[in-house]
Amino acid sequence: MRALALMLCLAAAPIVAADSAPLVIAHRGASGYLPEHTLAAKALAHGMGADYLEQDVVLTRDGVPIVLHDIYLDATTDVAVRFPGRAREDGRYYAIDFDLAEIRRLEAGERRQPDGSAVYPGRFPAGPSGLGVPTLAEEITFISGLNRSRGRHSGLYIELKAPRFHRREGQDIARRVLDVLQASGYAERRDAVFLQCFDDATLRYLREDLKTTLPLIQLIADNSWGEDSKVDYDYLQSDAGLADIARYADGIGPWLMQIYRGRDEQGNIQLSDLVQRAHAAGLAVHPYTFRRDQLPPGIASFHELLDLFIGQVGVDGLFTDFPDIARDYIDAKPSP
Ligand code: G3P
Ligand code: CA
Repeated sequence: MRALALMLCLAAAPIVAADSAPLVIAHRGASGYLPEHTLAAKALAHGMGADYLEQDVVLTRDGVPIVLHDIYLDATTDVAVRFPGRAREDGRYYAIDFDLAEIRRLEAGERRQPDGSAVYPGRFPAGPSGLGVPTLAEEITFISGLNRSRGRHSGLYIELKAPRFHRREGQDIARRVLDVLQASGYAERRDAVFLQCFDDATLRYLREDLKTTLPLIQLIADNSWGEDSKVDYDYLQSDAGLADIARYADGIGPWLMQIYRGRDEQGNIQLSDLVQRAHAAGLAVHPYTFRRDQLPPGIASFHELLDLFIGQVGVDGLFTDFPDIARDYIDAKPSP
């Protein structure tokens, strides 16, 4: 009976809608302009008209979900200056080794390479920003406030980072995130929240054990990245894999190069059939990551990239560091 109720609930809110405009998902906020995952970057993305604002989430030592892309603090905060001597043997400062009270003392900044240089040199300058690392609860309150004051709704698009790592550390990130959503009044399917994860077991756990009805997105990495050694991402892209995903999730979040395969020797664009096969399985497709300052090989401009994925391939949404450009592109297109 419970399973039937869940199926009816899911059936009532299809995620793949052929006639709707693709979703603009602000990747780590408007991270092309402001340090990623700061509330300032989320406010800017909201103002730019993003449909969804992305939150990557990890846990603190005291089990609080915070909005941070890495399980480490060193690439995007001043942790090494504030807490010298707190790195593990590998030289990294793990968020899970710090209580929230300590996280609050950190300043967030533009992403840096291990040698201190900027990952994206043309973006927000490295150094002091006056910005901090928000908790997931704080960010939800902040976005809810903007939704009200601007009279325009941007949804949440939450990624559960490294669930196996968290489990090894004695923490259940899926349960913690759902607890925050429940407390924030964001736990129902109508609330414009996606949950995303690279780990299929965690998505199944969310759906089958924790009984969430929220739309779930299976992220797809390349096996060579070592994103999750227990997941076979080649299999997930097969017809059988997509059929499996459709049993617990609503869509996929593939790497854009799993759709655009570059150009052949004659210069012709090569596309996979992943989007068509995912759609045939009833799955939405939200590829990542669209960056004006990091174009795929064979693509000359951001506009050309958007033309390819929106105009030609027909994705249902995309993660972008530049939500303003994607918004303008989509709004300028005639309705289908
Ligand atoms: O979650 C979609 C995309 O953000 C996945 O890549 O590494 O930026 O979290 P990453
Ligand atoms: Ca992400």
